Amino acid sequence: MADGRRVLVVGATGAVGGLAARLLADRGAAVALAGRDRVRLEERSRGLDGCPALPFEAYDLERCAALAPWAARALGGLDAVVVTVGVAGFGSAEEVTNAAAEHLMTVNALAPMAVVRGALPVLGAAGSVAVVTGAIVDRPMRGTADYAAAKTALAAWLGVVRREQRGRGTSVLDVRLPHLDTGFADRAVVGSAPSLPPGGDAATEVDRLLVTPVMSGAAPT
Ligand SMILES: NC(=O)c1ccc[n+]([C@@H]2O[C@H](COP(=O)([O-])OP(=O)(O)OC[C@H]3O[C@@H](n4cnc5c(N)ncnc54)[C@H](OP(=O)(O)O)[C@@H]3O)[C@@H](O)[C@H]2O)c1
Repeated sequence: MADGRRVLVVGATGAVGGLAARLLADRGAAVALAGRDRVRLEERSRGLDGCPALPFEAYDLERCAALAPWAARALGGLDAVVVTVGVAGFGSAEEVTNAAAEHLMTVNALAPMAVVRGALPVLGAAGSVAVVTGAIVDRPMRGTADYAAAKTALAAWLGVVRREQRGRGTSVLDVRLPHLDTGFADRAVVGSAPSLPPGGDAATEVDRLLVTPVMSGAAPT
């Protein structure tokens, strides 16, 4: 769409990513989708006028870095990248296996970093990067050391990138979503979630904290 922002949504097969893609398209953005589950990815693409879609796996960091260049080719340029990939994990530090810790760090930190690393050279002037971390960065809970550490590593990395990009006019958003009603904690890769209060309305929060800043081209802070 020539009159809208061109946005890549990575994690578009998830609840937050799916909502973000739909809301961005509703506001006139041309979207490209990346996700792991091929069937859901195709469904979501069909629901958005057959927009470009590419499957990927977070462990393949080179593939993660190649997503934005692909989207720029598919959309004729790229103005913003939204990254919503993530997986929960629970258990005390001595209970979580090294394999599970590696999984949490890869999906929640290394993969989003690789996506952004690949995006920075191809984003147009005044481009934006919006990456979901979470309120856990500010309020880590017991039984989430590895998940909280991964999100906090991602937040620290984004903070440095934001400073590096300031002179270029690229905005780098660290989107600290609160606990939402998407069932995210129930899809944990290890352990099970403690009893949590009801999550907030995902559509409202995704619109307020993610889609609106991206569509307004939030200024670098
Ligand atoms: N929901 C909340 O309460 C909440 C609160 C704060 C922060 N967050 C953050 O918001 C983000 C999205 O949450 P959500 O509620 O939308 O969760 P979700 O529905 O489970 O979505 C997670 C997304 O991550 C993708 N993903 C997971 N493992 C992957 C892997 N190995 N390779 C590639 N993609 C992978 C999933 O892909 P597939 O579906 O294709 O497998 C999906 O697109 C996460 O980063 C989460 O940490 C959520």
